[in-house]
Amino acid sequence: MARSLATLPKAHLHLHFTGSMRHATLVELAAQHRVHLPEALVSEWPPQLSAADERGWFRFQRLYDIARSVLRTEADLRRIITEAAADDAAEGSGWLELQIDPSGYAHRFGGLTPFLELVIDAAAEAGRLTGTGVAIIVAANRTRHPLDARTLARLAARYAGRGVVGFGLSSDERRGTVADFGPAFRIAARAGLLSVPHGGELAGPASVLACLDDLHADRIGHGVASARDPALLDRIADAGVTLEVCPTSNVALGVAASPAKVPLRPLLAAGAAVALGADDPLLFGPRLAAQYEVARHAQGLTDGQLAELARMSVRGSVAPPAVKAGLLDGITEWLAEPAESTG
Ligand code: ADE
Ligand code: ZN
Repeated sequence: MARSLATLPKAHLHLHFTGSMRHATLVELAAQHRVHLPEALVSEWPPQLSAADERGWFRFQRLYDIARSVLRTEADLRRIITEAAADDAAEGSGWLELQIDPSGYAHRFGGLTPFLELVIDAAAEAGRLTGTGVAIIVAANRTRHPLDARTLARLAARYAGRGVVGFGLSSDERRGTVADFGPAFRIAARAGLLSVPHGGELAGPASVLACLDDLHADRIGHGVASARDPALLDRIADAGVTLEVCPTSNVALGVAASPAKVPLRPLLAAGAAVALGADDPLLFGPRLAAQYEVARHAQGLTDGQLAELARMSVRGSVAPPAVKAGLLDGITEWLAEPAESTG
């Protein structure tokens, strides 16, 4: 029997707050708050999606907005974050970096600052309850004005080292100009926050390049388009930039035609650091361990290579040194166990 991938210690670097919600929790909270859910989020869940064009992205975004609207109370927020940490803990993740755009929630929770403070407190509580530490990445929306991103960067900077560890840029990569967000990322960098924009998901290698040149990315959300540009990939490998690859997201949104077509092997062969992530399990279905299952079954990675993926997730994280060391030791132990005795 193969080693269980749920017991492989790892870190989770690419998970969105709204998209982390359990489907059952969405349905329960919608009933509680009398929010009507479309069938795509009830009987037809997980929805058929495609982000191949603007219409497809719009549908994804609309479902996302509906999901966001069921989170009404402080208890709802605390529940989502604790469940995300608990689900991660159950799948071997000892460290979770949860990405959130506060703009979509601020109006319900008394403004940007009270909302972020609540999220930070809930993340700390979730860490204590589950044993999986939760850190926050504040993400700006690239379809909004870059000045909004600066406001969020200033907010994130105030909480640097106090729960917030990074600054991101999300939403439809075919919109907005990366360089326009440079000033926001400079504010974040000056505060010591990691630069973790999405890039090379829905757009090509030039988008990844812009994240490196204009935003000084430490990690790239997705980055799979880098596989199409060997020189770019060499640069990513040399710079030690971690690519947060989310296989089941890529398949659900039509970025890859099938799990086997996610360019994981070429990225690894070029020496790039890759950390697997679930992105939005609420909309796609599979959570974190399933990403490693794809790597094993669709991509044919050996347990040694899967252990290396887990190591890269830990090294690419900003987990405290003791947490990193514990996870890395656990990975070595996982690999040392005979394959037949676990699983
Ligand atoms: N926000 C949530 N999921 C996303 C994705 N896959 N790409 C860009 N922005 C997102
Ligand atoms: Zn994402």
